[in-house]
Amino acid sequence: MSKILVWDLPVRLFHWTFAGSLSGALAIGFWVDDDSPLFQVHMLLGLVAAFALAGRLVLGVVGSRYNRFSSLPLAPGRVIAYFVGAFTGGAKRFIGHNPGTAVVSLAMFALVPLLIASGAGWLGGLGEELHEGFAIALLVAIGGHLAGLVWHTVRHREAIALSMVTGLKDGPEAEGLKSARPVWALAMLIGGGAWVAALFANHDTAAGTVKLPVLGTVVSLGENEGAEGGEENEGGAGKKVGVGKNGEHGEKDDD
Ligand code: HEM
Ligand code: HEM
Repeated sequence: MSKILVWDLPVRLFHWTFAGSLSGALAIGFWVDDDSPLFQVHMLLGLVAAFALAGRLVLGVVGSRYNRFSSLPLAPGRVIAYFVGAFTGGAKRFIGHNPGTAVVSLAMFALVPLLIASGAGWLGGLGEELHEGFAIALLVAIGGHLAGLVWHTVRHREAIALSMVTGLKDGPEAEGLKSARPVWALAMLIGGGAWVAALFANHDTAAGTVKLPVLGTVVSLGENEGAEGGEENEGGAGKKVGVGKNGEHGEKDDD
């Protein structure tokens, strides 16, 4: 066994963008008053996480070996055997994702679109309660992820948390990736960075709206003081999606 490359640069870039934006969205969601202008950053960070997820879906199809969805050990028998083994001490070690991380990651991937849809009011009147429920489910998934990392560190005596920084894990040399794909990562950094910069530039704090770069949809958060005078929003062309204070979610056309 030696140190081999398992996580290429694109997936590491995705991981820290996803973890950072979701941590920020959760922290602001739970701790910042929804009347504060800072609360709008919560919505922007949620949209950054969704954008990162879209990139991850592409990597899941055309990414390197351990990023592909087809490489995830998701067969029910393997997942059950893994969780039983985790508690009885017999779980085997995987080079890429183990069934535990695979299941938890997919849960996080599914929760982000649900959080966006419920936060933006696309799920109707129940959206507000659902949004909080999805946020709590995400917290549980993140807690499970971190607990799994601690468990792995103790059980296999391997500082696995570092692998999402260095890309390296212990394994047989033949199983390692040949390249960290720096050109892909650079393209993602430039394209993704431009999208995120445009998102923040398109944010109108006074009106409480943001126009999604490329898509042109205007998303409005009707929670804060600024948004209350937002009927005259100059958010640009496209569909507006609003969220009312009392859960009255609605859509209106811009013209
Ligand atoms: C909000 C916090 C976090 C979220 C949402 C998150 C999310 C994820 C996701 C989605 C994956 C799967 C990666 C993929 O294939 O796309 C993953 C894997 C991983 N994460 Fe995190 N993560 C978080 C925090 C952390 C922290 C704080 C660390 C370490 C210090 C960490 C270390 C890792 C490692 C090592 C893996 C690979 C696990 C394996 O070997 O299967 N994560 N995380
Ligand atoms: C995807 C990441 C997101 C996460 C993790 C998240 C999480 C949260 C959390 C924890 C709260 C506080 C729940 C409570 O204590 O009641 C909250 C509230 C809220 N979020 Fe999000 N959110 C996300 C995205 C969004 C987006 C994209 C929007 C809007 C487009 C949005 C709109 C709202 C609104 C309007 C509230 C206030 C509900 C209320 O308490 O009246 N969220 N969110």
